[in-house]
Amino acid sequence: MHVFGHISDLQGFLSAQNKIIGFVPTMGALHTGHVSLIKEAKAQSGLVVCSIFVNPTQFNDKKDLERYPRTFEADAALLREAGCDVLFAPSVEEMYPEVDTRKFDFGFLDRTLDGAFRPGHFNGVAQIVSKLFEAVKPHKAFFGQKDYQQVLVVKELVKQLKMQVEIIPCPILRDPDGLAMSSRNVLLTKEEREQAAAIPKLMQEAKAMFNGRNAAEVKKHVENRIASIPLFKPDYFEIRNAEDLSEFDPAKDRQAIALIAVFCGRIRLIDNLLLQ
Ligand code: PAJ
Repeated sequence: MHVFGHISDLQGFLSAQNKIIGFVPTMGALHTGHVSLIKEAKAQSGLVVCSIFVNPTQFNDKKDLERYPRTFEADAALLREAGCDVLFAPSVEEMYPEVDTRKFDFGFLDRTLDGAFRPGHFNGVAQIVSKLFEAVKPHKAFFGQKDYQQVLVVKELVKQLKMQVEIIPCPILRDPDGLAMSSRNVLLTKEEREQAAAIPKLMQEAKAMFNGRNAAEVKKHVENRIASIPLFKPDYFEIRNAEDLSEFDPAKDRQAIALIAVFCGRIRLIDNLLLQ
């Protein structure tokens, strides 16, 4: 595996390859969910590039940025084992030689759910993803559906900037008890980790209860269940149109999705599940 910290070295290497480039952007602290993206990228491209960069501009909470896990050596070993060809791990100065003042407009997508609860988050994601796409120039980029709203934002970003990259959404990987894998899970105490297992259970309950017309009833049920779990403090639980996250309208929308964001102790966890 080739490891680069500078865009010029990365591009020097990549320009000499004549292969379909598959790209997996990450913030490190890699787990099996990330590895599944690398595997999918390998299956669909000739050369796999993974980036590790904890992007400061997408953290609306300074404490979250400070405690974000950093495990570079273990990450590099995992990527090597997964067959990743290139690891791009730039410094903050490399990605932001000057302050990025760009303001993107994603309309409703950036005002709802995580957009509303994490102001500036998706703008920061758009800043770094556009810079990484510019640096790597991938043919395909692989994103996990764990961050469902992020996938929609990135698709919109690519459209707005007219970038030639195909965005490929990949399924959520889960622990045996159903909890969606996340770099933040290692920050949970034993007790928090146990209670966090309620999240996928609630999502399954919502799916079982949803009949296409009773979104409000399901929402109330899940909100009551969340309130009964001592360490949970919810940001939201919503049932939306899976296409654009607008209000789900049973008369015209094809696919509903349940989305949740909840603090378990100090750690914010998200999950989602397609319904019906
Ligand atoms: P990060 O949280 O490290 O996630 C990197 C990629 O892994 C994202 O596409 C995310 O959706 C995916 N992923 C995380 N957990 C997953 C799981 N359990 N199953 C499947 N895929 C999973 O998302 C980011 O980083 C950043 O916002 C980034 C796009 C790198 C921009 O900084």
